[in-house]
Amino acid sequence: MILEALTTVLAALVSSYLIWLVAKRKQKDGEPPIVPFWIPWLGSGLQYQKDPITFLRKQEKKYGPIFTVFMGGSYFTFVTDPFTHPIIAKESKVLNFRICTIPTIKKVFDFTRRGVDVPTMGGLMVKYMQGHWLETLVSKMMGNLQKVLLHGSYNNTEWATTGLLHLVETVMCTAGFKSLFGEYPASSGVDNNKLHHKIVEDFVKFDKAFPLLVQGRPISSLKGVKESRANMWKFFTMDEIHKREMVYEMVEQYAKKLEEDQELEQLKKELYCVNWAAMSNTLLSAFWALYYILKHPEAMEAANVEIQRMLKETSQCVDGKSEINFTRDDMAKMTVLDSIINETLRLDISSSLLRQALQDYNLKVVSADRSYKIRKGDKLMTLFQLTHYDPEIYEQPDQFKFDRFLNSDGSPKTDFYKKGKVVKFFLQPFGSGVSKCPGRYWAVTELKQLVILLLLYFDFKLINPEQEIKMDQIRVAFGSLPPNIDPQVQFKRRVIV
Ligand SMILES: *[C@@H]1O[C@H](CO)[C@@H](O)[C@H](O)[C@H]1NC(C)=O
Ligand SMILES: *[C@@H]1O[C@H](CO)[C@@H](O)[C@H](O)[C@H]1NC(C)=O
Ligand SMILES: *[C@@H]1O[C@H](CO)[C@@H](O)[C@H](O)[C@H]1NC(C)=O
Repeated sequence: MILEALTTVLAALVSSYLIWLVAKRKQKDGEPPIVPFWIPWLGSGLQYQKDPITFLRKQEKKYGPIFTVFMGGSYFTFVTDPFTHPIIAKESKVLNFRICTIPTIKKVFDFTRRGVDVPTMGGLMVKYMQGHWLETLVSKMMGNLQKVLLHGSYNNTEWATTGLLHLVETVMCTAGFKSLFGEYPASSGVDNNKLHHKIVEDFVKFDKAFPLLVQGRPISSLKGVKESRANMWKFFTMDEIHKREMVYEMVEQYAKKLEEDQELEQLKKELYCVNWAAMSNTLLSAFWALYYILKHPEAMEAANVEIQRMLKETSQCVDGKSEINFTRDDMAKMTVLDSIINETLRLDISSSLLRQALQDYNLKVVSADRSYKIRKGDKLMTLFQLTHYDPEIYEQPDQFKFDRFLNSDGSPKTDFYKKGKVVKFFLQPFGSGVSKCPGRYWAVTELKQLVILLLLYFDFKLINPEQEIKMDQIRVAFGSLPPNIDPQVQFKRRVIV
């Protein structure tokens, strides 16, 4: 009886596996080769996730600069040739970006944008994340960072110990939230400090779960995450925004637009998504920038020299009374910091370009000197990490070199080569084409601000400089990679004499 049942189950399993094998995609004439796989649904997912660069390089060696990989139930056609990336980025009509993001936004943030809203919302972002508007946001952030660093528990002239990531999360989340979403006035009776504490805690909990949500884990299976998201939503309703002061104009306009469209229910979810997008990758990159500076005394030295030079140029000094104020223009002149940040982004961001073909398409692959047929509905994928870690483009790509992006005269270095040819897309931490992150100018400025203020006001050291820290590949293709452990640092407020 039992044996019979088992046999039936086994037979069913074997036959469905066979059906699945038969139904697998076959390479047609003119199409990219398919990397073989035997595990249903997962496909090559595990190998890719474990070490994406090694996995993709291996396939590249075997199959050339374009090949199709099955993982997580979908086929992805990878293009590893950096000379072809600009072509994909430019082809925004046939190779669509938005339809790729809709399911992810629904899974993670629980809303679906209606088609008409998207350009308006995107337009708001672009408008308020550059030019003179951005200038006001940058100035607010500079003030808020100094308030958090100098007026709170960090104002301590004795050595204190903390995790570096924890410190960065707390400082950046608090200052960033205040700069974008304002603060409750004293008359409201709300304790802003307590509130910010809660916001950091809920943010971190959700952010840790983010890659799992993207992979399709149901939110209710992750302990406390749904509650964290619901807690956060409460701060992004129209009512709460009206109660706060100094809300950034972009947020006001965003709210107004959704109100006009009678989508108020969605407002809290959209704004929460904005808050997450503004913080998540920035936090992790800020962590790595500081970590590399602490690990590399020559980088620390060069950054300090440049910061002192800029203080002098702008006739400011650290007197503990007035706040330091560097404008975006000032910071744009700080090319050493720029190079440190670019080098950090090169190493820590796993950015990608994901596109879905809206019709059959012939993709010209430059280094193969031929075209490949892409089927309607196919997903094209480019992992910029491959370029960022390409030893032909960057010598010793695993090493942090603070001056990698500087010419000998101190100007930004922008010529990088592969096989003797200039690589146009040598550094794409923010993606490319229509999917390029609209907040990129702000992000880079925030990173500089944090580095400047921490180096000016604090002494820092890693407790265990020899400890090896790795990047966890869990967010591959989705942005900054988190460290596998949070290294402990000692810090103290510098005494002003
Ligand atoms: C920071 O701490 C110093 C020394 O304890 C104190 O004199 C100063 O007033 C504090 N600054 C702020 C802004 O709280
Ligand atoms: C910083 O300087 C700029 C330009 O001088 C000015 O517009 C801005 O208001 C200043 N910010 C602060 C916080 O003082
Ligand atoms: C860093 O990257 C940005 C954006 O790609 C670029 O504008 C800037 O010139 C770069 N700076 C240096 C020093 O390479």
